[in-house]
Amino acid sequence: MRALCWEGVDKLAVRDVPEPRIRAEGDIVVKVRASSVCGSDLHLINGYLPAMREGDILGHEFMGEVVETGPAVQRLKVGDRVVVGSVVACGGCWYCRTEQYSLCDNSNPQPVIPEKLWGHSPAGILGYSHAAGGYSGSHAEYIRVPFGDVGAFRVPDGVPDDSVVFASDAMPTGWMAADFCNLSGGEVVAVWGAGGVGQMAARSAQLLGAERVIVIDRLPERLGAAADRLGVETVNYAETDVLEALREMTGGRGPDACIEAVGMESHDVGPIYAYDKAKQSARLASDRPTSVRQAIMACRKGGTVSIVGVYGGLVDKFPLGAAMNKALTLRMGQMHAQRYIPMLLDRLAAGEIDPGYLATHPMSLEEGARGYEMFEKKQDGCLRTVLHPQLN
Ligand SMILES: NC(=O)c1ccc[n+]([C@@H]2O[C@H](COP(=O)([O-])OP(=O)(O)OC[C@H]3O[C@@H](n4cnc5c(N)ncnc54)[C@H](O)[C@@H]3O)[C@@H](O)[C@H]2O)c1
Ligand SMILES: [Zn+2]
Ligand SMILES: [Zn+2]
Repeated sequence: MRALCWEGVDKLAVRDVPEPRIRAEGDIVVKVRASSVCGSDLHLINGYLPAMREGDILGHEFMGEVVETGPAVQRLKVGDRVVVGSVVACGGCWYCRTEQYSLCDNSNPQPVIPEKLWGHSPAGILGYSHAAGGYSGSHAEYIRVPFGDVGAFRVPDGVPDDSVVFASDAMPTGWMAADFCNLSGGEVVAVWGAGGVGQMAARSAQLLGAERVIVIDRLPERLGAAADRLGVETVNYAETDVLEALREMTGGRGPDACIEAVGMESHDVGPIYAYDKAKQSARLASDRPTSVRQAIMACRKGGTVSIVGVYGGLVDKFPLGAAMNKALTLRMGQMHAQRYIPMLLDRLAAGEIDPGYLATHPMSLEEGARGYEMFEKKQDGCLRTVLHPQLN
């Protein structure tokens, strides 16, 4: 079959690879119909999460059709149209039973790297390097999904592929980010990053009761999409001092909750950005935390900072003093896909969330390398490229 593979830092190519097969009794094989790019892939492609090997298949946000089931699979059958959470979870360990699926104890068969880096290994993630289990990803004609009964969900008829695909990753991540803010109604929530994850976090915050949502980015087309589609307020950090703007917009108080949906390749303007980039290039710090710093500084006293942007290691100039003295609650993590997907599919079917506008660039799998380049360089208003193997 054909698959989009990582060939080295910033090098992708479509190759012929063996088709996946059932390897454990709970596995399913899915014929991929739509597989999206995600900001997390950029961290892998650019070598900031350095556990990729030549030939690894990328992709973790996808939907498709079940074509094979292992003998222990009970909930699904061949022919089901499913969306699959990007996080692999066994469904039976203590973490899974308490719905902390991204912390599953049994789904990373190669826990050595994360154990060394972080003390413990979180769950495996499909198509997400050898630190996250070494699973082959979804930018391929077929993918093997371990623990199929736990990770794959039948999707409602009538919801298009290019909409439901985001129930795999961007939607549950955005929802978790807003869920972490413990909203009770009437709050002001600021969201850093207007990518797919930030857009879905903003919509989720509205549905969970936020009175005002303010989205921060520098890309006018992304800020425009957030304003038009969701009716949020926006701040362009390349034109405005973000901290000053947020103080002004909230009468000096600061947002009640700040969601960070940018991650380790955070961009900025001014000398501190050059300093962060230099430290990251020299491997003196692994991540650039610009937006985390801002979120902590902006947040009102006693508020919540919710981080879903991915960070891999060590950061410089983390304002722990501000977080401590303002009594902030800091919450973060890889998303617990399986906890949220069924509820999100209901909301999708009801039209409460409509993520279809994220799929700005549908393409064939063969065009994958170009699709990533457009997404990475934010060309042509690309919010997310969605690959379709059947268009080959
Ligand atoms: N926690 C999870 O489970 C999970 C799941 C999916 C994605 N993610 C992470 O979420 C992050 C966002 O993903 P995405 O797909 O939306 O990525 P994306 O690359 O499409 O969007 C990131 C956005 O952040 C903006 N940005 C950069 N620097 C900024 C700054 N200083 N302030 C405000 N905005 C800034 C960029 O212009 C871009 O629009 C990534 O780090 C990704 O790895 C996490
Ligand atoms: Zn992702
Ligand atoms: Zn588990």
